[in-house]
Parts: sequence; structure tokens; C-alpha cells
Amino acid sequence: MEREEFLSKLGLGVLMACAGCGLVSCSKKGDASPAQSNAPAPGSGTVFTADLSNSLLNVGDVKVANGVILVRIAAGNTASSFTAVQVACTHEGTSINYNQGQGIFICPLHGSEFSTTGQVLLGPATASLQKFTVTVNGTIATVTA
Ligand code: FES
Repeated sequence: MEREEFLSKLGLGVLMACAGCGLVSCSKKGDASPAQSNAPAPGSGTVFTADLSNSLLNVGDVKVANGVILVRIAAGNTASSFTAVQVACTHEGTSINYNQGQGIFICPLHGSEFSTTGQVLLGPATASLQKFTVTVNGTIATVTA
């Protein structure tokens, strides 16, 4: 075997090995288990409060704290004017955003979509977001686990 032929075959071997690595990497990603949320456990009590006299004034406004995203989804200061879910996507843990135009949560990493109650509307996520209770007393909204 001449030197040039040897190097050519070596290069092909390295290329094949790299392609193999890529395939293994892809299959592992496809088998990803649901991400852990850093949101408070159910029953753990108050997560945070928001003063509605100076925050969350407009539909679509959000407050994120302690692993939870609170969103104003309607006018008025009643519990049904808000929703609160874990902010970490159940696919791989990326922080979700609220899309006011569509009225849903969308994960910016792989595009999973969730309803305002946290139900999966579009994968790759398969698990629902943890939902939190919102109560309103005067101008104080309280998120509770
Ligand atoms: S992290 Fe993959 S869809 Fe959210």
C-alpha cells in the first residue's frame, strides 16, 4: 500500500467514526427523558406575590420567580385573569415564553407548545407543565404550590 492510499483510507475511517458519533448523539437526544423542574413541589405553599397596582397591568405581562411564570391572560383583578405554570419546559428544561398573540406558552429551543393550563399542545415535550394556584386579594396576586 502506498503512502497516499494509506492516508486516504485512514481519512475515510476517521470520517466514518465521526459519522457514527453523530448518529449516537442524535439517538440519545431523541430519547431524552423529561427535564426536572426547579419549581416548588405541590403543597409547599406560597411561591411569590405580585403587586397588581404596579405590575402585570396589561394582558400578556409576565412575572417569573422561583421557577414559576405568572401571566395576566385577561383584564381585571380576579384569579381567572391569571395563570401560573412552571417556567422550565418539560422536554429539556429551557425557559418557556408566553405568546400573547396565540395565547399559549412556547418553548424557544425545540418549539413545544403548552396551553395556559400547562397541557402539551405540540411536542417534542410529552409531559404537562406543573400548574400553580393563583389567588387575588385586593391588588395582591399570590401564586401557591
Ligand atoms: S427544551 Fe425542547 S422543546 Fe423545550
